[in-house]
Amino acid sequence: MSAGSGFKIGVLTGGGDAPGLNAVIRAVVHAAIGRGWEVLGIEDGFEGLFQNRVRPLLVNDVRGILQTGGTILGCSNRGNPFEFTVPRYAGEGKDRSQEVIEKIERLGIAALIVIGGDGSLRIAHELSKRGVPTVGIPKTIDNDVPGTDSTFGFHTACETVMHAIDRLHTTAASHHRVMVIEVMGRDAGWIALHGGASGGGDVILIPEIPFDYESILDKIARREARGARFSLVVVAEGAYPRGGAKVYQLHRGGSTYDTRHLGGIGNVVAYELEGRGQIECRVTVLGHIQRGGSPNSFDRFLGTRFGVAAVELIAQREFGQMVGLDGDEIHHVPLEVVTSGLKLVDANGALVRSIESTGVNFGRSVPPFAP
Ligand code: F6P
Repeated sequence: MSAGSGFKIGVLTGGGDAPGLNAVIRAVVHAAIGRGWEVLGIEDGFEGLFQNRVRPLLVNDVRGILQTGGTILGCSNRGNPFEFTVPRYAGEGKDRSQEVIEKIERLGIAALIVIGGDGSLRIAHELSKRGVPTVGIPKTIDNDVPGTDSTFGFHTACETVMHAIDRLHTTAASHHRVMVIEVMGRDAGWIALHGGASGGGDVILIPEIPFDYESILDKIARREARGARFSLVVVAEGAYPRGGAKVYQLHRGGSTYDTRHLGGIGNVVAYELEGRGQIECRVTVLGHIQRGGSPNSFDRFLGTRFGVAAVELIAQREFGQMVGLDGDEIHHVPLEVVTSGLKLVDANGALVRSIESTGVNFGRSVPPFAP
């Protein structure tokens, strides 16, 4: 079908939420309806397709949502059509992609916009390979999707981390304590690096640089010697000591199939520092606070640009693509990029080195430690 009036597109928000999702949905609806198209909102990611939970989205439906967190469509980590593992459905663990493809056709969806992180974008890539006209929009607070300088949601999460550290700073200074702040990011250290550096963290531990407790204690001792009787240690949930392992939460699963969640390294670090250094630590785990709340200006703007760009790609019939940020420009790359692995922090790259040269300690084991 040509992309004229009566052309219908579907949009879904897959995986976990991130601030800015509603800004993207709003932009998609405005840009598509402006072209005379119809928009179908699919509820709770791919899960909604299995259950026929779709609804038309009109301009009125997206009024007043630019500034709101979460997603008006709902999202879900369940319902991967290629690996259907939701216990409460029959046929778990099966490839049910053909069913999804037929549903998309029956709904009259001529093109599908998938707003998601690496998991949902991989599904989008597979659907695209099977002939579904698909465009992806990279979303995650973790900022670990390759092919884009930034995902939306990331900057808001970093701002949340920064404000949390600001608050911990004053109480740490009053009590002469070491504050350990555990942040999200899965296997990437972007949130810890950006949020930690902008909050003035003294130590930043990221998964890309396995850390050494002696190095951290050395940094804390040097600060003490200079009269700074407190320190702020920012730990990414995926960080781990050299020769050690990542820490996972105890989890019974409940309604989610993914029972392996990172979490707990903050307490381990505090316990070790107290034991080895005779210092008093307190731990704050920021958790899902980093995902919630109103998107900041950057994420609203980026989300809006991504949404419009995705509609433009559909108009140009450029399918199997993901929109992304390249410097200040919006570009697009083949969805296949998500199969190239996660975008990680370069342990010896310019970013880390620049922050390290301000005296931040990354727990590196190689002396001399940063001042
Ligand atoms: O991928 C985003 C993220 O928030 C990670 O930083 C975190 O590890 C994970 O999702 C938490 O997932 P859930 O919402 O399932 O607890």
